[in-house]
Amino acid sequence: MLISHRSNAPDNATLIGFTNLRHARTTRPMVIEKGRGIFLIDENGREYIEGTSSFYSAALGFSDPDLVEAAIRQMRQLPAYASGLYRTVPVALALGEKLASMAPLANARVAFASTGSEANDFLIKFMRFGNAHRGEPKRVKVIARAGSYHGATMSTAPLGGFPGTARAFNLPMDDVITVSQPDYVNSAFAGEDEAAFTARMLGEIERAIERAGPETVGAMILDPVSFSAGCVLPPAGYLTGLRNLLDRHSILLFDDEVITGFCRTGSMFAAETFAMRPDCMTLAKALSAAYVPISAIVMDGDFYDALEHGSDDEGTFAHAATYGGHPVAAAVALRMIEIIEERDLLGHVRRVGPRLHQHLASLAGHPMVFNTRGVGLGGAVQLHSLPNAAGSRGQAMQEAMMAEGLLLRVVKDTINFAPPLIITLAEVDELFARFVRALGAVERAEVAA
Ligand SMILES: Cc1ncc(COP(=O)(O)O)c(C=O)c1O
Repeated sequence: MLISHRSNAPDNATLIGFTNLRHARTTRPMVIEKGRGIFLIDENGREYIEGTSSFYSAALGFSDPDLVEAAIRQMRQLPAYASGLYRTVPVALALGEKLASMAPLANARVAFASTGSEANDFLIKFMRFGNAHRGEPKRVKVIARAGSYHGATMSTAPLGGFPGTARAFNLPMDDVITVSQPDYVNSAFAGEDEAAFTARMLGEIERAIERAGPETVGAMILDPVSFSAGCVLPPAGYLTGLRNLLDRHSILLFDDEVITGFCRTGSMFAAETFAMRPDCMTLAKALSAAYVPISAIVMDGDFYDALEHGSDDEGTFAHAATYGGHPVAAAVALRMIEIIEERDLLGHVRRVGPRLHQHLASLAGHPMVFNTRGVGLGGAVQLHSLPNAAGSRGQAMQEAMMAEGLLLRVVKDTINFAPPLIITLAEVDELFARFVRALGAVERAEVAA
């Protein structure tokens, strides 16, 4: 027998990311055993509301029978087959057709991958291929915004400029240009109105492009609502001005809809909510409600043409992934899109979203609350940071919310909300009741300290 038994029997042979690994030697992680609707139950029988859909992904909650059924049906029909060498499966073709018809892109084409990181990584790789074959091999750099998150791979972790995800791993950063997150709430100068702020942000990007050499810049990637930066909404005029600016330098706009895609912002895609005109989009998470791993790269016709020409030059487009277009994942994603239509999830988001916004707005006068914001079925409460202790209130809230049975994503002192799209009005009320109790507990603890 080759099974080894670890002598001190820790429960943590599995590396769990965004965790202090030494801490993990002695402390058992939170272990979730089952879920029903928006609720989760941990191994100790404690129940939680998952108010950020498990990393913004579980769009239908944790017990949707139709998605499970779609997976089982496909498992029985054909559980595995890799798309490549011009062989594929019907569900991958059908999903490609469907996404191409839904995306707000002209003559859209679709490629599949398994994760959001992989979709962004492949897209950057495709861009480099296309540019190399249309005589612009130097156009490889990608502009990204500080605080945005686009993935965990070698090419995507440096996008967003988090020191921990890129520099700490000693990743190559030469082809990344980091610009400011357009966070009007937190980064505007005193007295600066939104238009002036937007102009300043765009000016910074223009200067960064000029410094890098416009002929070396291939694309800018952005998450239209940056949840990783604390639910930052695009300031007025930013996305239109940005598109014009990028057009002037023949730089592409990549729309990372990994979180925002599929109803989150009150439209099918955030590109529609904010009248943004991207060249390519990446999708993941809600695409399959996160029941199975699948992601997609949606490219407009011009972008795809460059790939086609390149494949003429090379004789092939030498790219595939064993699980890109996996039949079970594609079947679940197809069913997810049907469910969005059958159950009018967009209508539901538009009905329930305002209740979430009402609750957020009702907290605006609270002494601990600095700002609240919302869009679609998402939003944030930003607390005043304690002097010299930024993030400590967020941390205290994290613990207080867990004690109340509420899981929300905390970014420093900002608490993000993005519940499963199926949440009911009564459940939104319950989520906020727990949130307010947690806020009260933190407030009382501060007074007592
Ligand atoms: C906006 C955005 N893009 C990309 C990713 C990476 O997706 P994944 O974790 O599936 O690789 C994430 C993950 O949270 C994300 O939030």
